[in-house]
Amino acid sequence: MFESLQPLPPDPILGLNAAFKADDNPNKVDLGIGVYKDEKGNTPVMRAVKEAEKLILSSQVTKAYVGPAGALAYNEAVAELILGATLKAGLGGRRITMQTPGGCGGLRIAAEFIARASSGATIWVSDPTWANHKPLIGSSGLKFNSYPYYNYETHSVDFDSMIATLANVPIGDVVLLHGCCHNPSGADLTPNQWQAIRDLAQEKKFTIFIDLAYQGMGDGLEEDVIGVRLLAESLPELIIVSSCSKNFGLYRERTGAITLICQNEGGARAASTLVAAAARSNYSMPPDHGAAVVQLIREDSSLNSMWEGELQEIRNRINGLRITFANLLTESGAQRDFSFIKKEKGMFSFLGITKNQIHKLISEYAIYLVDSSRINVASINDDNIDYVTKSIIEVLSKA
Ligand code: LMR
Repeated sequence: MFESLQPLPPDPILGLNAAFKADDNPNKVDLGIGVYKDEKGNTPVMRAVKEAEKLILSSQVTKAYVGPAGALAYNEAVAELILGATLKAGLGGRRITMQTPGGCGGLRIAAEFIARASSGATIWVSDPTWANHKPLIGSSGLKFNSYPYYNYETHSVDFDSMIATLANVPIGDVVLLHGCCHNPSGADLTPNQWQAIRDLAQEKKFTIFIDLAYQGMGDGLEEDVIGVRLLAESLPELIIVSSCSKNFGLYRERTGAITLICQNEGGARAASTLVAAAARSNYSMPPDHGAAVVQLIREDSSLNSMWEGELQEIRNRINGLRITFANLLTESGAQRDFSFIKKEKGMFSFLGITKNQIHKLISEYAIYLVDSSRINVASINDDNIDYVTKSIIEVLSKA
């Protein structure tokens, strides 16, 4: 039965990470996978997380099942983080939030929910979008289309083309937006652009689905969800999938959530049964640990201040690196303008170099980046910044 199986090609992001780990070049630099790294190149456990874990370890009394919807208190804490207390209260019973195994689990559950709610729905994704969106969402049987998003010439959002395409999205289709820190481009929508999309969704009656994986990694916990909240307060329906992988550093603990805003409370009650059933038939119920950590941090004001402070350090480091790196490229003689790196948000930017140049960086310099030329800015540090800059300039000059 298994003899005819052929190996699949490696995953574009995880495969690169495996190749990086296997490389014995002492100068190697991993600009690939979207994992935050500190100045020493480590991805540490946040101090607030460590403290919360100690408390959980000493006080936990059971390992009994949590149920398909996860922990109620975690769900409420996440909803408040995303929406803020006032909007959350205002939405009342129209809003449901359920814990999922990471943002990925949430995306998959959202896809199954959409397939049940609108079986012929097409999901409209940004061009480009995260490499795993289509595999994750598409495995539920939904179809895809794309809208223009990033202009590689101007290194900014091609909003006119985006809105012109979205104007033709039919009722029953779903538009997937990145809540902040667009992955892979780092180019985000302005508040005015979010408003224009909100107005169009109201007029054309398509549904919006937001992937929020980086709240707090761009401009701030509140600033990064301006668009999400704008949509949540004015649209009749909304799907939000959120992740605590990056902002709580809980990557391997698989801590995420799906939030649905429905037209009315009856709709929300029905939706909650569909989401719980989707969870039950996929993985039965989400893991507890990461969610327990997030819940405790958000409920304990001193742990929460510690966490917010750490997140600010992370954000400041990334934003500082963006400026330092872009300036160094210019000072080192780069023949093209890299100032867009300073303006973009979160961990990613496109270098905008060719596939050939990317392959040279990997094979000749052991600098690993994904095929789209996306780099994780947070992987740059004092020890490797000169080497990375010099290598990019050399590769560009050879082209
Ligand atoms: C990334 O985009 O690199 C991260 O979200 C990690 C992943 O799973 O792809």
